[in-house]
Amino acid sequence: MVFPKWAQLFLLQASASSASALGRRQNGTESFESHCASVASTLQVPNATVYFSEFVSAGTDLSLPENNATCTQPSQVVQADLCRIALYVATSERSGVNMETWLPSNWTGRFMSGGNGGLNGCVDYPALAYGSSLGFASVATNNGHNGTSGGAFYNNPEVLEDFAYRAMHTGVVTGKDVTEQFYGSAHSKSYYLGCSTGGRQGFKSAQDFPDDFDGIVAGAPAFAFANLTSWSGHFVPITGPPGSPTFLNNQLWSVVHEDVMKQCDLLDGYADGILEDASICNYTANTLLCDANANSSSCLTQEQVNTVNQVFSPLYASDGSLVYPRMQPGSEIVASFVIYTGVPFPYTEDFFRYAIYNDPTWDANKINSTDYDNAARINPFNIQTWEGDLSAVQARGSKILHWHGQMDGIISSENSPRYYEHVSETMGLASDELDEFYRYFRVSGTGHCSGGDGASVIGQGLGSVESLDPRENILMAIVDWVENGVAPETLVGTKWINNNETAGVEYKRAHCKYPLRNKYSGQGDPNDMESWECVE
Ligand SMILES: *[C@@H]1O[C@H](CO)[C@@H](O)[C@H](O)[C@H]1NC(C)=O
Ligand SMILES: *[C@@H]1O[C@H](CO)[C@@H](O)[C@H](O)[C@H]1NC(C)=O
Ligand SMILES: *[C@@H]1O[C@H](CO)[C@@H](O)[C@H](O)[C@H]1NC(C)=O
Ligand SMILES: *[C@@H]1O[C@H](CO)[C@@H](O)[C@H](O)[C@H]1NC(C)=O
Ligand SMILES: *[C@@H]1O[C@H](CO)[C@@H](O)[C@H](O)[C@H]1NC(C)=O
Ligand SMILES: *[C@@H]1O[C@H](CO)[C@@H](O)[C@H](O)[C@H]1NC(C)=O
Ligand SMILES: *[C@@H]1O[C@H](CO)[C@@H](O)[C@H](O)[C@H]1NC(C)=O
Ligand SMILES: *[C@@H]1O[C@H](CO)[C@@H](O)[C@H](O)[C@H]1NC(C)=O
Ligand SMILES: *[C@@H]1O[C@H](CO)[C@@H](O)[C@H](O)[C@H]1NC(C)=O
Ligand SMILES: *[C@@H]1O[C@H](CO)[C@@H](O)[C@H](O)[C@H]1NC(C)=O
Repeated sequence: MVFPKWAQLFLLQASASSASALGRRQNGTESFESHCASVASTLQVPNATVYFSEFVSAGTDLSLPENNATCTQPSQVVQADLCRIALYVATSERSGVNMETWLPSNWTGRFMSGGNGGLNGCVDYPALAYGSSLGFASVATNNGHNGTSGGAFYNNPEVLEDFAYRAMHTGVVTGKDVTEQFYGSAHSKSYYLGCSTGGRQGFKSAQDFPDDFDGIVAGAPAFAFANLTSWSGHFVPITGPPGSPTFLNNQLWSVVHEDVMKQCDLLDGYADGILEDASICNYTANTLLCDANANSSSCLTQEQVNTVNQVFSPLYASDGSLVYPRMQPGSEIVASFVIYTGVPFPYTEDFFRYAIYNDPTWDANKINSTDYDNAARINPFNIQTWEGDLSAVQARGSKILHWHGQMDGIISSENSPRYYEHVSETMGLASDELDEFYRYFRVSGTGHCSGGDGASVIGQGLGSVESLDPRENILMAIVDWVENGVAPETLVGTKWINNNETAGVEYKRAHCKYPLRNKYSGQGDPNDMESWECVE
């Protein structure tokens, strides 16, 4: 009888200790199922309550009725046969973490944790499904509270501490323990995959819990978190409320977007509506100023020009220090629906009300430099996540893949190279030395974590997978780097026709490793990635 690989692994460990090993040998599927059903009662996990364990077969559209409605995730399609275990782990007398481990029958021996987003509060079920489909024992937590708001931080710093670092670390330590008890052997290598707040969590692990992972994939990191939150909030005083003379509606922002392309699209050698490196675009809206009889839906008043120019300027504190870099040009259309709306950004409002001031009456419409200073000074539980010393990661041989979409309309991609340079200066390492353990990629034509006008599909999560080839899949790339020593020089992204996977591939483009940038060579089909080169 031929057993699948997982069964061999499983039997190897189980047969020594388990009286039912013979039964398992006779029917691998049944044994995995029954082991899963009974494991909840045998797990010994510190500070934890095991809610349940259940077998879920591949193809099941798993219903998630208890998942908080604001997480907008009522169900998740499961892609592999797995054992789903749900736990609660207390982190203090007033706080705790809800978490799930999805343990695939076809286990590769690898462990993976997903992260969170925004201020949530939401178990990343797509990450659990993605990781388990690729044979990772996968774990994700609710980050210490339920739902998308920061209201749970109010009068409870323990919940804030969970959000800043503790929930994630607890989930990883507990998840590895559950994984070992379930399969009967410890994981071989451990990985992290997250974006946005999840990107910050990846760097928090690298900075403060270097033993948690052998490989970290951190996208669009929300690090310098307190300052980012100030920056996200500072657009309201610039734009004013909708209808005010300083305000631009969505249509005018699309006029600005066209103008950005007019000024900057050729900087990378090819005009395709994609800025390969948005940081070299010195955009101002001055040329959009309306003349006397102009059509006011295709030009701007002087007040509106000022608004746009301020949006594309860095934010400075009262003492002249940088709070946060400017928004990168190229993301105007998405950003006009998210942060140029003229109403307070919800995360800014919640963070200042419940994490900084503990005052639900704080008015985000009046945010000013005193608030920026306070957020940076209070920096609760070092949520900034801005330590430049990654020597512990380097010393233990762990690897970090950092990436950022170049048309991110929520977290400016210009903050990512700032961190890279901060690490370089702190550690005194040049780029080729950082390459040994830390690489940063600018992913053009990509919005906040996924989507966008260009080659945005890099395997960063379910729904963004063209291939499992490590050259085209960032999760497989970190595995290849950690386990085979093969480090990526580029990340190949795919642009699907109409961003629709079924419609097929429009083109692929190899995104360059910082500080190199992508440039059209001037020869050959621009849809052929070989026609582009990474230049200084
Ligand atoms: C193993 O058990 C399951 C569930 O009882 C059954 O559906 C399956 O056919 C069995 N497989 C084999 C190979 O006997
Ligand atoms: C969060 O949601 C989980 C799952 O529904 C539930 O068990 C838990 O009690 C909730 N926690 C809080 C603090 O509401
Ligand atoms: C259990 O929780 C307490 C705090 O409530 C903490 O001090 C302790 O480290 C936790 N134990 C483990 C193994 O996580
Ligand atoms: C198990 O995983 C291996 C590769 O890791 C794959 O080739 C095989 O098809 C998988 N089997 C099942 C039943 O999913
Ligand atoms: C769901 O999330 C919202 C927003 O974060 C929160 O106010 C509410 O208390 C949560 N509900 C439950 C049952 O946890
Ligand atoms: C953008 O401005 C910087 C600083 O003034 C300058 O060095 C650079 O050449 C400018 N880039 C372009 C493309 O004009
Ligand atoms: C004004 O500009 C808008 C956007 O470019 C265009 O749709 C509209 O037709 C123009 N109106 C006139 C009267 O030219
Ligand atoms: C955050 O902003 C303060 C000014 O309020 C500045 O001094 C500090 O350097 C900034 N920190 C980071 C990590 O950007
Ligand atoms: C910011 O606003 C607060 C409250 O509205 C006020 O006390 C403070 O003086 C303001 N700071 C600056 C620099 O204007
Ligand atoms: C995606 O493309 C397929 C194949 O061309 C088409 O049948 C389908 O309708 C498209 N889906 C959407 C949402 O446009």
